[in-house]
Amino acid sequence: MSLNTLVRQAVETIRLHWKGGADARGVGIRLVTELDRVPDVAGEPTALLEVLSALLLNAEDALPAGGGMIAITTWVSERWAHCAIADSGMGMSEDVRARAIEPFFTTKGSGRKGLGLSFAYGIIRRHRGEIEIATAEGRGTTVTFRLPREPYRQGAHA
Ligand SMILES: Nc1ncnc2c1ncn2[C@@H]1O[C@H](COP(=O)(O)OP(=O)(O)O)[C@@H](O)[C@H]1O
Ligand SMILES: [Mg+2]
Repeated sequence: MSLNTLVRQAVETIRLHWKGGADARGVGIRLVTELDRVPDVAGEPTALLEVLSALLLNAEDALPAGGGMIAITTWVSERWAHCAIADSGMGMSEDVRARAIEPFFTTKGSGRKGLGLSFAYGIIRRHRGEIEIATAEGRGTTVTFRLPREPYRQGAHA
């Protein structure tokens, strides 16, 4: 499956959500994508879409009320297809970063369960991938995951 197609789907979904939302949350948020030509990856589209949605939602949650920027980037290396979701939000303290992936760990009030990163981690690991969090308090966060490239097939690049 095409990682870029999944990214486009996740972006479309969150845009519709912002559009339909009573809170007009999306108004001040600039969401940009920079999608390189990445080879197909083997995986469950539904599960990987869930990862993208969870990371996008976390990025949205991290932004101040006035909005900010979310950037999704994909690129390729010799063995991996990479995807980064970066936000210009509040970032995490070292303590929060260290615990962020723990199931049920949350710094948010009701309505969030603390399972987004834990599920994302589980899904990426199940796909033999890796996930990394880079963050600076007050400046923003970048969550990057990578998935093994499928063996090259003609026409498989999108
Ligand atoms: N993009 C982000 N920016 C700042 N903090 C984040 C970000 N993503 C995750 N976190 C921190 O990690 C915690 C756990 O994230 P997650 O597992 O998705 O649970 P939830 O979003 O339900 O709180 C969040 O409560 C938050 O403190
Ligand atoms: Mg979350």
